[in-house]
Amino acid sequence: MLQDIERVFFTEDEIKARVQELGKQISDDYRGKTPLFVSVLKGSFVFMADLMRSVGIYCDIDFMAVSSYGSKTVSSGAVEITKDLSYDIDGRDIIIIEDILDSGLTLAYLKKYMEMRNPASIAICALLDKPARRKADIVPDYSGFLCPDSFIVGYGLDYNERYRNLPFIGVLKPEIYEN
Ligand code: IMP
Ligand code: MG
Repeated sequence: MLQDIERVFFTEDEIKARVQELGKQISDDYRGKTPLFVSVLKGSFVFMADLMRSVGIYCDIDFMAVSSYGSKTVSSGAVEITKDLSYDIDGRDIIIIEDILDSGLTLAYLKKYMEMRNPASIAICALLDKPARRKADIVPDYSGFLCPDSFIVGYGLDYNERYRNLPFIGVLKPEIYEN
């Protein structure tokens, strides 16, 4: 697997440090509340697992799954919910946890979908932000790193379902896509 990586963008230590900071910021901002973290599967589960352990206040977690990508490296724009929330979010403070905010189409859709269910608030926490490719009018409330406009893998992010288990975030060698 490692031989497929051309370059490391964010090391394991850099990610760890930044996730700690985000957790502290969220703990401060939500003091006295019990936010519901909603992880958008599958990409964000690694980030969510680390983030929640860096948060010092009570929190609940839930998961949603959407399919918008298939095996391609560009967003189709069409979003289908394949796993819905298991909590009633009426009156809850929601923090949507995303691995990467790219076109923003997925999150714009999910945010609108959740707004219809009457939460007290909705915030977006994305580990990575790729603003160069934004199509939807959406800005993360919390973001870990600004990300170069390349397709990246690792720390939950995949290419064709692979590389999610890399502990760092990096870019693949071009020949991997060409195969
Ligand atoms: P968006 O709707 O274009 O913002 O797409 C968001 C989703 O696309 C993310 O949650 C990822 O699953 C996937 N995605 C976008 N960019 C990348 C990337 O560089 N590497 C891996 N997955 C990506
Ligand atoms: Mg994702």
